[in-house]
Amino acid sequence: MISQRRCVITLCLLVIKFEFANLSSAPVECLKPFCQCQKKVNGKAVCSGRSLHYIPRLPKYVRSVTFTNTSIRFIDKCGLFNLTFHQIEKINFTGNVLRSIDKDTFLNLTFLDSLIVSSEPHLNITSLKLSFQSFPKLKMFELGFNFNFWKSLPRDMFNNYHVSNVKHLNLQGNSFTYVNFTTFKTITSLREISLANNSISRVSLTRLTSLIKLDMSSNLLPRVPTFCGRNDTSYFPNLDTIILSRNNIGFLGPKSFRCLPRLSTIYLDYTNIGKLQDNIFSSLPSLRTLHLLGIGNPLRSITQNAFNSSSLETLNLKASHFHFDIKHRYDANKIFASCPNLKILHLTENYMPFDDSTFQTIFRPLKKLNKLYLTSTKILNLPRNVFTNMKLLQKLNLDDNGINGWNDSYRIFGNMTHLKYLSLRHNHISVINETTFPDELLSRLKSLNLARNPFSCICDQMWFKNWIQKNGSILIEYPIGYKCRHPNSMNGLLLNDYKPTDKMCNPWNPLYTMAIVMGIVVLLILAIGSIAAKCQGNIKNYIYLLRVYHNRKQGYIPLDSEEDYEYHAFVVYCDNDRKWVHNDLLNKLENEEGLQLCIHHRNFIVGDSITVNVDNFLKKSWKVLVIVSNNFAQSEWCQWEVDVVQERRRRQGKEVIVPIILETIDSKHMTSQLRTLLDSTPSLRYRSGVGTELFWKGLLESLRKPLGHPPTSLLYSRI
Ligand SMILES: *[C@@H]1O[C@H](CO)[C@@H](O)[C@H](O)[C@H]1NC(C)=O
Ligand SMILES: *[C@@H]1O[C@H](CO)[C@@H](O)[C@H](O)[C@H]1NC(C)=O
Ligand SMILES: *[C@@H]1O[C@H](CO)[C@@H](O)[C@H](O)[C@H]1NC(C)=O
Ligand SMILES: *[C@@H]1O[C@H](CO)[C@@H](O)[C@H](O)[C@H]1NC(C)=O
Ligand SMILES: *[C@@H]1O[C@H](CO)[C@@H](O)[C@H](O)[C@H]1NC(C)=O
Repeated sequence: MISQRRCVITLCLLVIKFEFANLSSAPVECLKPFCQCQKKVNGKAVCSGRSLHYIPRLPKYVRSVTFTNTSIRFIDKCGLFNLTFHQIEKINFTGNVLRSIDKDTFLNLTFLDSLIVSSEPHLNITSLKLSFQSFPKLKMFELGFNFNFWKSLPRDMFNNYHVSNVKHLNLQGNSFTYVNFTTFKTITSLREISLANNSISRVSLTRLTSLIKLDMSSNLLPRVPTFCGRNDTSYFPNLDTIILSRNNIGFLGPKSFRCLPRLSTIYLDYTNIGKLQDNIFSSLPSLRTLHLLGIGNPLRSITQNAFNSSSLETLNLKASHFHFDIKHRYDANKIFASCPNLKILHLTENYMPFDDSTFQTIFRPLKKLNKLYLTSTKILNLPRNVFTNMKLLQKLNLDDNGINGWNDSYRIFGNMTHLKYLSLRHNHISVINETTFPDELLSRLKSLNLARNPFSCICDQMWFKNWIQKNGSILIEYPIGYKCRHPNSMNGLLLNDYKPTDKMCNPWNPLYTMAIVMGIVVLLILAIGSIAAKCQGNIKNYIYLLRVYHNRKQGYIPLDSEEDYEYHAFVVYCDNDRKWVHNDLLNKLENEEGLQLCIHHRNFIVGDSITVNVDNFLKKSWKVLVIVSNNFAQSEWCQWEVDVVQERRRRQGKEVIVPIILETIDSKHMTSQLRTLLDSTPSLRYRSGVGTELFWKGLLESLRKPLGHPPTSLLYSRI
């Protein structure tokens, strides 16, 4: 047997000499169909196939080679001969049928720094151990012996100078039940060990000062190992990360994590811890990240100071199904009060409270939050005055809740001056409009996810459609994730394909018509009002004129005609109104219309007394014009004339007298005689400007109007 083997080796050496001589310089192809070589990806080659029995030559660039599912059984220096043409750095044997590895195997692989031997249950562990001596000195960086079903490790497994430089040791997926860490003590550079996926229920720790990361997830540990050595010294004084997820750990107390001064990250995901007690983590001065995913399943209670840690920055309680909506399970006031430096909080898949006030209480201490995940937490209404206090929040995830919509966007999203990423994916939001988010929030966001909401493709969505046109690039999953649910006829249509037009969405609203009509009516009323205020007299004059025409049509026969008199009218006026009488009245009636008026200034006979004059000339005048003004009302002489004139009215009827009101009479000047006159006789109101024509027309009509018509004055009594 021995001689046979020696013979094989000699043969191999002969072959080596031969091949070196002939083939070393020739370019080599990747061996088909077994191997796949990728020059770009760090010169990686993967060779597999049950009919591959040997290690082939590979292209020169190959640095890392994996043999998987081949029929390679034994390896030795000679078998690896073909790899000596390369600067091979990494070798991986996974799922072959390895039985043994020769102690000289790696002798000529001077660049080797990583060896993985996985899923090789038949490999003789002792032969592997002995082969370590052929590793290049102080070069090995990584060793991985995974899924080999090893039940235990020889105590002297790594008792070899050639592996003392290993930094990553992976022993996942074996069948260890007990691990004595003394085995690793000789690997003085060891930084990371993975013992995940074993059946470890017991460990014996020893001081490993270089260890930074320990992964013992998916084992059967009943409790957190004790990291304190004699005199409370730490076994792992530099340990930064410990992964204890998926173990049988059912209890954590204030003493669980002691003597780990540098520990910053703990994973306890899916452990059975149903109750988080006070000060579990408070003895860890460097703790920054706590992963408690799916803890307790469900987590039933959290005591006041469970998260007492002033250094804690990240807390992941995802999928713990904790009821923040059940008051006695925790203290809303205290729960996060002792970890005020929290920056990242995952509360996905828990039950958030329904009321704003509990929400506010829970989150009040967390002023430094950067990221908050409230995905799938049964929120139906966004809480007010909660996020608004998180001035540093950059990312908020509210996916997979039942959020419908909200009114008070400022009290929900106001003041969030740092928010950049907002996700409300898969809620019940149907319409997004200008009131949904505060303007300044939208302009600050870098990404917004509203996908998988049941959008209504109705005109109310116009604003959002227009917004998308300008800012759509920040929308995540647009357009494919945005579909219409309502109305039924549009169910399934992409929001992007819903094209409402202005015409469809802004039809002429009957309200607009009403508003316009009302506006016009109001304007008209105002206009008429102001015209009426200005032309009150004109209107009266006009009505007067109409009446005159009307009476004439009725066919009244004049009893007393103007031809019987010398003057057409006797003018009663006050001296102060002389100017108007002489200039305007005389000019118009005498010069233009050819009437003859009796003016006391001009016509009275000097020498006769006034009373005689008045009496005489009144008799010669067909009608009497009374020019009423404030001065007139104040003058006694004029009042006397009114009395005289009234006498004439009584005899001949009211058409005899035509009062002309020059200006509005102040009520304090109004005397009873004057009032009687104006009340009993239709009067004309003088207007300068616009109404002048009408006034003159009315005046002429009334001057020419025959006497003896039925009384009409009362209807038009004025002032
Ligand atoms: C080296 O590779 C060549 C071809 O790729 C193969 O024919 C030869 O048998 C291999 N040598 C060893 C020692 O396996
Ligand atoms: C334990 O610590 C004490 C005080 O810190 C010290 O006096 C003693 O020597 C230490 N013992 C050991 C074995 O290190
Ligand atoms: C929180 O932890 C610190 C540090 O361990 C401790 O001094 C303090 O008493 C704890 N607070 C409470 C309320 O238990
Ligand atoms: C926003 O902050 C200001 C000043 O800090 C505060 O007065 C105001 O009430 C806050 N608004 C909301 C909605 O929280
Ligand atoms: C925006 O949409 C909400 C919910 O549909 C609605 O209550 C609100 O009146 C809308 N605001 C505007 C300005 O259309």
